[in-house]
Amino acid sequence: MLPPFSCPRQFATIAVMATPFTQPLLKVEDLSLSFGERPAVKGISFHINEGETLGLVGESGSGKSATSLAILRLLPPTATLTGSLSFAGSNLLTLPEHEMRRQRGSSIAMIFQEPMTALNPVMPVGEQIAEAVRAHHPALSRREVSERVLKAMHEVALPSPEQRAHDYPHQFSGGQRQRILIAMAIVNRPRLLIADEPTTALDVTVQAQILALLNRLRQTHHLSMLFISHDLAVVSQVADRVAVMQHGVIVEQAPAAQLFHSPQHAYTQRLLASAPTMRTDRSRPLATLA
Ligand SMILES: Nc1ncnc2c1ncn2[C@@H]1O[C@H](COP(=O)(O)OP(=O)(O)OP(=O)(O)O)[C@@H](O)[C@H]1O
Ligand SMILES: [Mg+2]
Repeated sequence: MLPPFSCPRQFATIAVMATPFTQPLLKVEDLSLSFGERPAVKGISFHINEGETLGLVGESGSGKSATSLAILRLLPPTATLTGSLSFAGSNLLTLPEHEMRRQRGSSIAMIFQEPMTALNPVMPVGEQIAEAVRAHHPALSRREVSERVLKAMHEVALPSPEQRAHDYPHQFSGGQRQRILIAMAIVNRPRLLIADEPTTALDVTVQAQILALLNRLRQTHHLSMLFISHDLAVVSQVADRVAVMQHGVIVEQAPAAQLFHSPQHAYTQRLLASAPTMRTDRSRPLATLA
C-alpha cells in the first residue's frame, strides 16, 4: 500500500490563466494502433479544448510519440490504426492526403525533442522558417515572408533576429535551437501545437526558459497544446489536464492539480513517488517502477 501522496513543491501546478473551455478542438476516441502484429496504443480516448494544454506522460515505449504521429498521420505504412481522430470537426483519418498536408504545419504544428536533428544543418535558420511559411502561403512576397520570419523569431525571444536569421543551426545554443523550432512551429499560427519532449535535451535552466516561453505563447496565440513528456515535474508546469499512459493505455486522466494532489491509479502514484523532490528523504532509496 502506498502512502497518501502529498503534493511536493516541485509539482505545484502553475496557475495558467483559467480559460473558459468550449468545444474540443481535438477529439481522440478509442484509438488503437499496431506496428505489424504488435499493438502500441490500445483504445485510448482524450480531448483537447480550445486554448487548453493536455500533458501526456508515461514511461518509455508507452505509446506517447506513436499517438502524436497518428494525429499528424505520419506513421509508417506498417502501422494500422482504428478509432476516430477529429480535429476542428474534420475526421483526420479520412481526410485526403493533400488536405492533411495542408493541416500539418499550419493548423497542427509539431516541435520535436532533438532540435539539432530537426533542423537542416546546411541552411540558414531564417531560410528554414521561411520555407515553413512558403509551404502554406506560396503567394506571399519575399518581403512578407521575411516579415513573418522575423516576427516569429522576435516572439520566441531570439536575440537580434535580423542578423541571426542568416546564421546556421550550429551557431546557436541548444536552447536557441529549440526556440528556432518553436518559431517554425508557430509561424503559421497553428491552433494545436504538439510538443514531443521539447525540453528533454536541455539543462534545467534552459528547460525552465522554454517552458515559460511556451506558456507565454499559448496565451498570446490562444494555442491548444498536446505536451508529451516522461517528466511529471515538467508537465506540471504547463498542463491544464494530464493523461497518464502505460503500455499503450491511458490509465488515468484528470485536471493537473487533482492528478498531482490525489492520483487515483497505482501507476500514477508510483510515477509520482519515483520522482525526487526537495523533500525526498535521501537516506532511503527512491521508489522504483516495476
Ligand atoms: N516505426 C515503428 N515501428 C515499429 N514499432 C514502433 C515504431 N514506432 C514505435 N514503435 C513501438 O511502439 C511502442 C510505442 O512507442 P512510442 O515511440 O510511442 O513510445 P514513447 O511513449 O514515445 O516512448 P519514449 O518516452 O521513449 O519516447 C514501442 O513499443 C515502440 O517500440
Ligand atoms: Mg516518444
